[in-house]
Formats: sequence, C-alpha cells, structure tokens
Amino acid sequence: MRQPLVAGNWKMNGSQESIKTLLSGIKSGMGRVNNAEVAVCAPAIYIPMAQAELQDSGVAWGGQDVSTEASGAFTGEISTAMLQDFGCKYAIVGHSERRTYHGESDQYVAKKYAAARAAGLVPILCIGETLEEREQGITEEVVARQLDAVIELEGVAALANGVIAYEPVWAIGTGKTATPDQAQDVHQFIRGRVAAHDQAVADGVRILYGGSMKPDNAAELISKPDIDGGLIGGASLKADDFLGICEAAN
Ligand code: 13P
Repeated sequence: MRQPLVAGNWKMNGSQESIKTLLSGIKSGMGRVNNAEVAVCAPAIYIPMAQAELQDSGVAWGGQDVSTEASGAFTGEISTAMLQDFGCKYAIVGHSERRTYHGESDQYVAKKYAAARAAGLVPILCIGETLEEREQGITEEVVARQLDAVIELEGVAALANGVIAYEPVWAIGTGKTATPDQAQDVHQFIRGRVAAHDQAVADGVRILYGGSMKPDNAAELISKPDIDGGLIGGASLKADDFLGICEAAN
C-alpha cells in the first residue's frame, strides 16, 4: 500500500514573515490530515526556518533542487550534505522550470537524482510534457525519455528510493489541471514503464501529480489508482489550501 504524499513546492516565493505564518498555519492544521505524508520544499535560504518550525511536527521538508557535486568551486550551488545539515528529507530534481530556464538535460537531472539518492535524500523526479508535445501526441515518448535517463544511469532499483512527479508543463501555474483521466493515463504509463523493468519497484514507487492541483480537484485526482498524491505549487502558499489538499488524501 502506497502512502499518499502531498508536497508543497514554494518555488521562489515568500519572505521571513510570510513563511513564518505559512509554517505555523500548516503545523497547527496537521490534525486535519490523517493519511497523507506531508512535506514542504522551501527556497534554500528559508530551509533553516522550516527546520526550526517543523521539527517534530510530522511535516517533512526539503530543497527544490540540489547539486550533482559534493562540494567545492560551484558558485551558487547547494549540496546534498548542506540540505541534510538542515534536516531535509526530500530534494526536487528536474522540475520543468529548471529544465526550461536553466537548460537542465535529462542526463543532468539523472545525475542530480543519483547524487540525492546516494546521500540518503529522497529525490522527487519531475517529468512531464509541454503543450506542444501533448498536441503532437508524444506525451508518452517525452516522459519515457525523462524517466529512462534515470533508469539508464542508476538502474531501476534507484526508483525504489525516490518519488516521481508527473507535471504536465501546460498545467503548471495555468489553472488548467489535467483531468483525472488524462493524469491517470500518464501515471499508468509511467508505472508500466517501471514495471517492465521491475514489478515490485513499480508497485512501490509513489507517482505524484502536479499542475494546478487545488483543494477542490485534489480528491478526484488522488482517488485514481496510479495517482499517489500531489506536488503543489501555488496552492501550497496558503496553509488552508495546502491542508485542504492534504485532507483530500484522507
Ligand atoms: P502549480 O500547482 O502552481 O500549478 O505548480 C505545480 C508545480 O510546478 C509544482 O512543482
């Protein structure tokens, strides 16, 4: 049985003041959540605040990206050890915004996945097609290519220690959620692709949906057999909305 995971990706949002309010709101509302595992991925500079506030709250925290390198002359980068130094459990890798704006290739993302996993962090591997790719009918080809890069580098067993997030790029921040059936189709395809290598890994790996998930559409999405939770952007910035999504997994 896969425990649902609802993870907030705050992206580049917040201030000390707003994050303090958000963290205490999430913490105090955790009584509403009785099934999902809950996590927040904060901008790196605010991770110490998440650690201070969420200690023993039942809410995990993580980074939004991580370096492939262990340490040294890599200006601006954050290492796996640094995330762990501040108690992170998760690290998002390969978010479409990083693939698009920072030119991260499938192979580079696979290296990030490997680095996170080797350090004992749980990587959240984001994959998903653009609108153009969906309209061309190559959604499966795209997500397969993104997934296969990790399997080729690390072997399928590596997915047993991670989480996959299917995030159709056209649904991110647009208010255009994939329908539960559209999302389920791709989730099923992803799980099938993993199963072709290893059925047990496929049965165990959590596949989250991301893209305009909100309290009012979350339950229907998460009720689908291959949708094991959500990676939430905009709606994770308000404690009540985020908790509403967490509750939808009850
Ligand atoms: P939105 O929930 O704002 O669409 O963002 C989804 C996302 O990109 C999470 O990583």
